[in-house]
Amino acid sequence: MDRSSAKVVLLIGASFSFFLITSARQQLQSTFNISCTPSERDALLSFKQGIINDSLGLLSSWRLSQDCCSWTGITCSSKTGRVVKLDVSSFLTDAPMVGQISPSLLSLDYLEYLNLSTNFLAGPNGSVPEFLGSMSNLIHLDLSYVPFSGRVPTVFSNLSKLEYLDLSFTSFSGRVPPQLGNLTNLRYLDISWMHNAYSTDVSWLRSLVLLEYIDMSNITLSKILDLPVVVNDIPTLKHIKLLNCSLPSANQSIIHLNLTELEELDLWDNYFGHPIASCWFWKITSIKSLRLYGTYLSGPFPKALGEMVSLQHLDFSYNGNAAIMTVDLKKLCELESIYLDKSLSSGNITDLIEKLQCSSKLNCLSSSSNNMTGTLPNSMELFTRLNYIDLTNNSISGLIPQGFVNMTSLEVVQLSSNQLRGQLPLLPRSLKVLHAQMNFLSGNLPAKFRAPNLVNLIISSNYITGQVPQTICESENIKLLDLSNNLFEGELPHCSRLRNLHFLLLSNNSFSGKFPPCLQSFSSLVFLDLSWNKFYGSLPKWIGNLVTLRILHLSHNMFNGDIPVNITDLTELQYLSLADNNLSGLIPLSLSHFNEMTLKAAGDSNSALAFDESLDIFSLEMKHEILKYGSHGVVDMIGIDLSLNCLTGEIPGEIVSLNRLSNLNLSWNGLSGKIPDNIGSMKSMESLDLSRNNLSGIIPSSLSDLTYISDLDLSYNNLTGTVPSGRQLDTLYVENPTMYNGNTGLCGHPLQNICPNNNSAHEQGDHRGQEKDSSSMLFYYGLGSGFVVGYWLVFCALLFKKLWRIPYFRLVDKMYDEWNRKEAKGCRKGRFKYEVMWETHCCSVKSHALGDSGEAKELFGEAGK
Ligand SMILES: *[C@@H]1O[C@H](CO)[C@@H](O)[C@H](O)[C@H]1NC(C)=O
Ligand SMILES: *[C@@H]1O[C@H](CO)[C@@H](O)[C@H](O)[C@H]1NC(C)=O
Ligand SMILES: *[C@@H]1O[C@H](CO)[C@@H](O)[C@H](O)[C@H]1NC(C)=O
Ligand SMILES: *[C@@H]1O[C@H](CO)[C@@H](O)[C@H](O)[C@H]1NC(C)=O
Ligand SMILES: *[C@@H]1O[C@H](CO)[C@@H](O)[C@H](O)[C@H]1NC(C)=O
Ligand SMILES: *[C@@H]1O[C@H](CO)[C@@H](O)[C@H](O)[C@H]1NC(C)=O
Ligand SMILES: *[C@@H]1O[C@H](CO)[C@@H](O)[C@H](O)[C@H]1NC(C)=O
Ligand SMILES: *[C@@H]1O[C@H](CO)[C@@H](O)[C@H](O)[C@H]1NC(C)=O
Ligand SMILES: *[C@@H]1O[C@H](CO)[C@@H](O)[C@H](O)[C@H]1NC(C)=O
Ligand SMILES: *[C@@H]1O[C@H](CO)[C@@H](O)[C@H](O)[C@H]1NC(C)=O
Ligand SMILES: *[C@@H]1O[C@H](CO)[C@@H](O)[C@H](O)[C@H]1NC(C)=O
Repeated sequence: MDRSSAKVVLLIGASFSFFLITSARQQLQSTFNISCTPSERDALLSFKQGIINDSLGLLSSWRLSQDCCSWTGITCSSKTGRVVKLDVSSFLTDAPMVGQISPSLLSLDYLEYLNLSTNFLAGPNGSVPEFLGSMSNLIHLDLSYVPFSGRVPTVFSNLSKLEYLDLSFTSFSGRVPPQLGNLTNLRYLDISWMHNAYSTDVSWLRSLVLLEYIDMSNITLSKILDLPVVVNDIPTLKHIKLLNCSLPSANQSIIHLNLTELEELDLWDNYFGHPIASCWFWKITSIKSLRLYGTYLSGPFPKALGEMVSLQHLDFSYNGNAAIMTVDLKKLCELESIYLDKSLSSGNITDLIEKLQCSSKLNCLSSSSNNMTGTLPNSMELFTRLNYIDLTNNSISGLIPQGFVNMTSLEVVQLSSNQLRGQLPLLPRSLKVLHAQMNFLSGNLPAKFRAPNLVNLIISSNYITGQVPQTICESENIKLLDLSNNLFEGELPHCSRLRNLHFLLLSNNSFSGKFPPCLQSFSSLVFLDLSWNKFYGSLPKWIGNLVTLRILHLSHNMFNGDIPVNITDLTELQYLSLADNNLSGLIPLSLSHFNEMTLKAAGDSNSALAFDESLDIFSLEMKHEILKYGSHGVVDMIGIDLSLNCLTGEIPGEIVSLNRLSNLNLSWNGLSGKIPDNIGSMKSMESLDLSRNNLSGIIPSSLSDLTYISDLDLSYNNLTGTVPSGRQLDTLYVENPTMYNGNTGLCGHPLQNICPNNNSAHEQGDHRGQEKDSSSMLFYYGLGSGFVVGYWLVFCALLFKKLWRIPYFRLVDKMYDEWNRKEAKGCRKGRFKYEVMWETHCCSVKSHALGDSGEAKELFGEAGK
């Protein structure tokens, strides 16, 4: 018998006896239900005692009497019966356990796997407990999202068996200890998104010869020049993530590339600012995912990009419009997503799509804000897997291809701010989001408008004509419908099923008919804008049932009759405009029901159109809409505008309880009686216009308590007595000396009439008040519809990484900044044309803006202030 056969026999013998022992043990266990080692059970119980809040009861199965091997989160070795795995991560629960990590864990001598991720557990003073460094059998250690503080600890470098270490999203700070290089068995190292950590020398990485995955995102590496050289010595690397590391440059050349396994390279948000072509990574042909967002690389892409035949994801967005993409991409047959937004200096969409013909798996194509010209080719239809396309804000012209309807994977299409013309084609049934505002689309909507999955439809600011087809009612999931600034006419189709509709924006068309009865069934409506149309008839009492409404904009129509008292049932309402209609009768008395317009409510609910920062797409949509209306648009504005109607009677005294109201316009009506005495308690008031009424009596002196007021007009009433004084009021008068005009009985400083004589009026001033257009009602039109954003992209990103919360919000904020900047630039060419026309109204002369001339922004620019 040679030695090897002896070995085999021995082995068989050994395994056999082992089998006997274990099966005997299992036998025992099942007969007597023997629990785990008592010392380990005690250790676990004292770990449990350290937890002071386990609101979800994750550890509720941990009890004295039971076998600890069967407790939630515990795994025992089937051979030894000892605890080898402790996993009490509470990811995806939202309710972390809170407490301290008990040193009793040290008794778990055989523990190989410890996962405390996302719990609010800590050692003394929030630091990491030293004893963790003595758990020498650990192979997997996951402490991510545990809010430890203090310096990045060195204790882990004693855990020489570690293969997996995740310290991401902890609150460690300071220098990353080079002792981590002692962990020579590491395959997976994630030390990303700690708090303020840095490294000035990464040569210790070279010792991690088995490393496959490294994530050092948000660790400051601004002094590191040799990163490519260091990682090049670790040929096992498959994933390198260095987002937001302040890496100074990627301009290196590596003679001999060892990184033949590399699949993922992520360099997001490191400002390089040098030519793209000089980067070190272009020759790595194994790359599947390359992310260069926010690196500000410029110039032409190198030909090598065309040779990255494994490439599945390329993100080259937000790089400052200085790159040129002329590379032949015909070999990139694996490509699934390509993001080039805000990065190219110019381009031709026809060309780009032609170049991508091999990429039959393409799923996301995003090239917004790239100064692209050309037309959408019919061959687009061949991307049968295309799910997301964003070409917002380019100069793409021509028609939307008819073949669109056959792109059956398409869910999100963003084409806004281009020069597309012609009729909107039939939509693919899969479509969820279509943003095509600010184009030159014309003609009617297709009669067979069938998009049952549609959630967002924004086609505002085009030249679309005709009626809205009845078939739109089939889009039962729709949340946002924006048809404003078009040439629509006729009545709204009677849809009864749009129960999810939150935003309905129809302003600036020629819609007619009564207040649409179908709205009665839209029980989720938050934002309703019917302004600038030809709706008529009375406002129905059931308007008070739309209790979710926050913004109700009905101005510039022909509604008549009373304002139904039931409107004050809309307790969530923060903005109400009924301006420029033919409404008559009294202002409802119960105004104080507008709870959202009082500061008390603001304190409770954290304000207007507040959307919780949850991972909720809808909140994002909402934020878009908000941004779209501009930072000083409807949303900040807590206001009531009833101007340009025929309202009579007194201003209800209750109005003064709306102390969150920043804008109140009751001008151009027939209101009489006095200005409420305690008007000064409307502390948030910024703009108050009571002009052109029959108000009489004195101006209450409390008016001078309105410390935020920047716009006041009391002209053309029948006010008498002394003008109240106050620094704020005096300043206002200097800016707008006509604000008291046409009140023959007013006197005193700063007016020229001297009080005691009470003499008859010399009506000073001109009639400029008349020319003052109805700007305050139009404050948001001027802002145009902003461009809309790829929340889908954000959403996609969320799906990509397991936990994205923090970077996600940073990203979102960043994008909002972009949009704001965009808005500020007022990038749209003049598309809305208005001309001011005078027209006799029942109560007075009013201005009326109609039709087409000049840029809205110019005309109403003042109004937003
Ligand atoms: C032993 O455990 C099994 C299942 O875990 C259970 O059905 C049985 O009642 C237990 N026996 C005793 C004696 O507790
Ligand atoms: C720890 O738990 C989290 C959440 O269940 C999981 O995502 C993570 O992969 C686990 N860590 C390890 C090392 O398995
Ligand atoms: C325990 O945590 C839950 C969820 O995080 C929280 O709602 C609850 O108030 C906490 N209880 C105590 C006593 O802190
Ligand atoms: C651990 O790392 C430190 C610093 O890199 C080094 O001095 C020490 O020798 C290492 N210890 C072992 C056991 O490798
Ligand atoms: C990223 O690093 C910066 C400074 O280095 C720090 O202020 C910030 O908190 C870190 N971000 C996260 C999400 O940890
Ligand atoms: C990696 O490539 C360099 C040349 O850049 C070479 O000197 C080195 O030996 C290689 N390292 C490994 C581990 O293959
Ligand atoms: C847009 O592209 C054209 C050429 O197609 C170029 O002349 C122009 O400067 C570009 N505009 C910007 C803002 O880059
Ligand atoms: C865009 O490319 C297509 C196809 O190469 C070409 O026919 C068209 O003229 C180009 N358009 C512009 C505006 O350059
Ligand atoms: C869409 O596909 C159908 C069936 O394949 C075909 O008959 C139709 O012509 C296509 N429509 C367009 C506009 O390409
Ligand atoms: C309008 O309000 C009145 C008084 O609150 C109420 O009786 C009536 O039912 C309401 N009408 C509708 C249609 O809700
Ligand atoms: C103005 O008010 C006075 C009383 O304050 C009243 O006598 C007079 O008729 C009013 N004038 C107009 C035009 O309403």
